[in-house]
Amino acid sequence: MKIAVLPGDGIGPEIVAQAVKVLHALNLDLTLEEAPIGGAGYEAAGDPLPEATLQLAKEADAVLLGAVGDWKYDSLPRDKRPERGLLRIRKELNLFANLRPALLYPELAAASTLKPEVVSGLDIMIVRELTGDIYFGQPRGISTLENGEREGINTMRYSESEIRRIGRVAFDIAMKRNKKVCSVDKANVLETTELWRQVMIELAKDYPEVELSHMYVDNAAMQLIRAPKQFDVMVTGNIFGDILSDEASMLTGSIGMLPSASLDANNKGMYEPSHGSAPDIAGKNIANPLATILSVAMMLRYTFNDEVSAVRVENAVKKALAQGYRTADIYTEGSQKVSCSDMGDAVVAAL
Ligand code: NAI
Ligand code: MG
Repeated sequence: MKIAVLPGDGIGPEIVAQAVKVLHALNLDLTLEEAPIGGAGYEAAGDPLPEATLQLAKEADAVLLGAVGDWKYDSLPRDKRPERGLLRIRKELNLFANLRPALLYPELAAASTLKPEVVSGLDIMIVRELTGDIYFGQPRGISTLENGEREGINTMRYSESEIRRIGRVAFDIAMKRNKKVCSVDKANVLETTELWRQVMIELAKDYPEVELSHMYVDNAAMQLIRAPKQFDVMVTGNIFGDILSDEASMLTGSIGMLPSASLDANNKGMYEPSHGSAPDIAGKNIANPLATILSVAMMLRYTFNDEVSAVRVENAVKKALAQGYRTADIYTEGSQKVSCSDMGDAVVAAL
């Protein structure tokens, strides 16, 4: 097994170092190779996705990514910015299926901003399409109109086959869970998502055991706060999924708890926390590494088919939480505040 390790920017290197410790502690037959991406790629090679990094990612079985981005790159041209490196690697590796489990660990019920009875036992899988939609649709850009005024354009588009393949991922996952899929769209006003809804309805015929429902994205945003436990699997497009999964992360106490997997058609994948590079806390050794460590568990499960090791990592995280260890973002009175690297050590010790 070869893993490309791309720490990136901000807290990326700090949290990835903890996940790497956990990988080593598992004593599996692994080769890890590190390369720069994002701002680090720009510094090293003038490109947020250097060619050597892309090659390494392509030949590896899986990619472990920290996060990219820093305010200091905001003035760079768009194609040199860190975030572009991330969008490109997802596209180049054809990672169309982004899985984001929002799971509330009982130990963290007090860390959620919602009432315990609303969130306790929460276990949602958000399936977000990752290589299409308004983030990639052409035409795009900022141009100047004849009257001298500037206009910004992005294009929301999805082909039928793109919708169908992400739909299949969602239905397949639902079959292994509680057999409920909620498809989120804005079919009342956006034709792209009207097609989305049609294709989901067609696909549901192949999964008679799964209950398919539909929800407009604005209502879904509301329902996630009002009664999140009504959901099992949610499937949605790239932009709605981006927003809803951040929202869902807060149900679980902190975005620092939310892992993700981005898969291609053969379960090759890139694994990364759902959060960004958190420049506001970078370099202080206070970030929560658990989202990244839990992403490693997803890597073991989805790419390496090693459910035993995946569960070992998840149980080690639970144990560290049960022992009372908390990074600042999930700290509540009575628990023990620890640093990023201490939390990594606690998980390794629990393993
Ligand atoms: P962010 O997710 O980096 O931070 C949002 C808030 O959550 C901040 O207050 C941060 O301190 C906190 N936070 C995030 N991760 C945490 C962790 N592990 N432990 C404790 N607290 C944590 O989002 P923001 O501030 O909007 O963006 C910062 C930079 O990250 C930007 O350059 C943005 O473009 C980039 N970004 C990168 C992503 C990626 O690499 N996948 C995703 C989202 C943003
Ligand atoms: Mg986001």
